[in-house]
Amino acid sequence: MPARSALLLSLFFWFLPAFTGAMELPLPPNEEVLGLIVFKAALQDPTAALTSWNEADASPCNWAHLHCDPDTGRVTRLALDSLFLSGPLPRGLDRLAALAALSLSNNNLSGPIPPGLSLLPSLRLLDLSRNAFSGRVPQDLALLPSLISLELSSNALSGPLPDSLFSAAACRSLRLLSLAGNRFDGPLPVAALSRCSLLLHLNLSSNRFSGSPGFASSLWSLSRLRVLDLSSNAFAGAVPNGIENLHSLKVLRLNDNRFSGAIPGSVGLCPHLTTLDLSRNSFDGSLPSSMRYLTSLTSLRLSNNQLEGDLPQWLGSLTATRELDLSNNKFTGNLPASLGNLKRLNYLDLSNNRIVGSISDEIAGCTRLTEIHLKENKLNGSIPQGLFSLGLQVLDLSSNALTGAMPAGTTVSATLQFLDLSDNKLSGTIPPEMALFFGLRHLNLSWNGFRSQLPPELGLFRSLSVMDLRNNALYGSIPGNLCESGSLYVLQVDDNFFSGPIPEEIGNCSSLYLLSLSHNYLNGSIPPSISQLKKLEILNLEFNNLSGEIPPQLGALDNLLAVNISHNRLIGRLPPCKMNVPKPLVLDPNAYLPGFASNIPNFAYPAATPVRRRRFLSASSIIAISAALSIVLGVLVVTLLNVTARRRIELPAENGPKSMCSSSTKSGGPAVGRMVAFSAGFSLKTEEFKGGAEALLAKATEIGKGAFGTSYKASSAKDGSIMVVKRLVAANIVQYHEYFDREVRLLGKVMHPNVLPLRGYYWTPQLQLLVTDYAPNGTLHSRLHERDASVPPLSWPERFKIVLGVAKGVAHLHQAFRPPIIHYGLKPNNILLDENGEAKVSDFGLARLLQRLDKHVASERFQSAMGYMAPELACQSLRVNEKCDVYGMGVLMVEVVTGRKPVEYGEEDVVILIDQVRSLLDQCNVVECVDASMGEFPEEEVLPVLKLGLVCTSQIPSSRPSMAEVVQILEVIKAPI
Ligand SMILES: *[C@@H]1O[C@H](CO)[C@@H](O)[C@H](O)[C@H]1NC(C)=O
Ligand SMILES: *[C@@H]1O[C@H](CO)[C@@H](O)[C@H](O)[C@H]1NC(C)=O
Ligand SMILES: *[C@@H]1O[C@H](CO)[C@@H](O)[C@H](O)[C@H]1NC(C)=O
Repeated sequence: MPARSALLLSLFFWFLPAFTGAMELPLPPNEEVLGLIVFKAALQDPTAALTSWNEADASPCNWAHLHCDPDTGRVTRLALDSLFLSGPLPRGLDRLAALAALSLSNNNLSGPIPPGLSLLPSLRLLDLSRNAFSGRVPQDLALLPSLISLELSSNALSGPLPDSLFSAAACRSLRLLSLAGNRFDGPLPVAALSRCSLLLHLNLSSNRFSGSPGFASSLWSLSRLRVLDLSSNAFAGAVPNGIENLHSLKVLRLNDNRFSGAIPGSVGLCPHLTTLDLSRNSFDGSLPSSMRYLTSLTSLRLSNNQLEGDLPQWLGSLTATRELDLSNNKFTGNLPASLGNLKRLNYLDLSNNRIVGSISDEIAGCTRLTEIHLKENKLNGSIPQGLFSLGLQVLDLSSNALTGAMPAGTTVSATLQFLDLSDNKLSGTIPPEMALFFGLRHLNLSWNGFRSQLPPELGLFRSLSVMDLRNNALYGSIPGNLCESGSLYVLQVDDNFFSGPIPEEIGNCSSLYLLSLSHNYLNGSIPPSISQLKKLEILNLEFNNLSGEIPPQLGALDNLLAVNISHNRLIGRLPPCKMNVPKPLVLDPNAYLPGFASNIPNFAYPAATPVRRRRFLSASSIIAISAALSIVLGVLVVTLLNVTARRRIELPAENGPKSMCSSSTKSGGPAVGRMVAFSAGFSLKTEEFKGGAEALLAKATEIGKGAFGTSYKASSAKDGSIMVVKRLVAANIVQYHEYFDREVRLLGKVMHPNVLPLRGYYWTPQLQLLVTDYAPNGTLHSRLHERDASVPPLSWPERFKIVLGVAKGVAHLHQAFRPPIIHYGLKPNNILLDENGEAKVSDFGLARLLQRLDKHVASERFQSAMGYMAPELACQSLRVNEKCDVYGMGVLMVEVVTGRKPVEYGEEDVVILIDQVRSLLDQCNVVECVDASMGEFPEEEVLPVLKLGLVCTSQIPSSRPSMAEVVQILEVIKAPI
């Protein structure tokens, strides 16, 4: 950004004098006053930035935000940046015949860019960036004969770019063109663009442009380019040769596209490159060795590709490099010792590759390093001594095979904020000097073999917010001063050998949200001070030797979502929470397992054997879920439901595939259907679709119908394998193939054991099909509600596994993608069961393919998602975020426990399941609504799940937990067997 504005400014001052000297100016100055007053009058100017613009003045030259040529008295520059102006761009500027620079950047101007700017024959600089302009770029911008810089970035402009925009005349002087951050789509008119042969800076980032034939050969002819930014578009295919024609290139960003094949070998012949970003594409092969000549490179980002080969030694010759990010590839080999030559290196990320061997001491030669990310490799050996004296802020070595102790005599590192050494084979003690990492916020040493007491010095951490020490061999007591800073947010020390009481001072941990001390040997009673943890949501104390009375103050914790205090010697009852538990909760003293933890452990590490993790199904697990539930269901929603009940009857059946097909043949558009497969082993081929998609559908059996379309079971003619083909309701789906392709491919990247993978798609303007795997065991809906007599009903463990699986799958959609993928239609119809009874979430993220979500919702919301749709969607305020999936998840949990549909239509009335369960719960009769067909069930697991379901269906989105929290809570309710 600064580089760009500097370029802009220098261009401006270069060209301004040349121009002003040479102009004949026909208009008298008061014309300009008039024009500017007209302009001002139509603008909203909330900060009164333009008060000095007074129509009584004879000349505007003393007004703020403009500049006149001292010789001619004509306005040559108008700079109204960042003045909070809003409204459409008014007329009036056409009176400024001498205007050379117009900048309106960073305001709130909206509507289309009006034609008429072309009446400014002298305009050289036009900056409308960072506003809310929409619509197409007016063709007549091409008439600006002297334009040097055109900045339209960060608006809402759309449509394909017309070739005519880049006429020879328009391009004659253009040096800078930025269209970044708009909604342009269609193929980039490269042939026309290549006429702008003086272009220095071309920024098309963050649009929906796609490639076109001759793409590269035309772009590569813009030989003066210094900055080329094509990032975040829909460009695909190999990057062709010839890039070395751009011999002045300094910045090349192709990241976040779908480029594939090898990195062009000649990229190393652009000797001035300082920034090269190819991340998040599908590049493969190894690094071209020409890259060793890129000695000016300061930033190299190649993450999230499929690059392979050993990390080359020549990386050490890129001595100007400050950022090196090769993460999420398939690189192998050792960490090159030559990395130590990168004296300017500040940021190093090689995580998630297949790097082996040890971390060499040489890396400490990179004295400017502040962040090192090496997680998820196969590194072994010990942590080099010098690493902690580098002044690092972030060190993430997690999930490797590192051994040995924390480096001894670790020098003071006051800068370190994030330290993650989890999931290694580290051993030895937690050294007291660690407390000298004053600034530490995040400390994760879990899943190692550390064996020591916790040094009391750890209380010196001033800003620690996460401390995770799970699964080590730590012993002794939990120091009372851990919380002195008051900033601790997560404290997890499960599966260690801690003994003694929970310190009374735990009450000082006023920010604590998750407190988990399970599977230790803690004794004594639960200190009443725990009631000071007002933010606590999850409390997990199971499998300890705690005894005595449960402090009644626990009931005062308003935010508590889940408590597991089972397998202790506690007695008493949980105090009445806001939402009463159906009967007094008497903790079973027998749940304490004699012999289990009666003797102090002998520290034979690893002692955390599976036995410790086993679940005992005795009625002992006591979990209370007590979040405040707002039971405000608007009369409005109920009324709407009744309307819908009536409307359902009148709805005509949806058009079948037949009519769909005939429309596609009739229109005979240019679109040639193309089957795009995401995975190799995929057996439906284009031929089967060519002229035959309809035939394929005709042969297929319909297996389900949803808001987004109808699903068919189809078999491949080639090998008979079975797929599910979903025909999308075409009317609502985006019409730009590139956009559709990009979104569907993103969905195709979702890989999770609880998510049904998308295998490919078929697209014509009339017909869009998505192809997924077939799950032989049907949907959760059919297992719950349409079960054959021959199929046994789902047991409680099966149901729990399904609920947990769904929550994990959806949490992955929310967490692994930015912006998160919102399922939007979570319900049992979209949950498939595989042969092991494992849940697979399907039909996710389809809302992204819609032209307009609101329109779709308006027409579909009552038909298919009734009962699962979050209330904020039923209203007009459409802020779709992850919390509407949490709502659907809540309804699903209640449905799974009760075996009943979320909305049941009676003769006259409508029964809403969650409301009924809520009132049963209030009347302490809730056990009645548990599905009797599942036979025996442990109340202490079933009821919390039911309650969690109700918490998730809170009317107020912000009081629903996140999906990750739902997973966390479910895992506390019942550890996986
Ligand atoms: C931007 O303008 C729109 C209308 O043009 C208005 O609704 C909105 O409040 C404005 N936003 C700001 C931050 O001024
Ligand atoms: C391209 O424009 C976007 C949006 O203004 C900006 O964030 C990005 O840094 C620009 N790219 C380059 C290489 O300047
Ligand atoms: C580290 O792993 C390599 C194989 O990748 C092995 O040859 C070497 O001995 C290991 N070193 C240590 C210290 O375990």
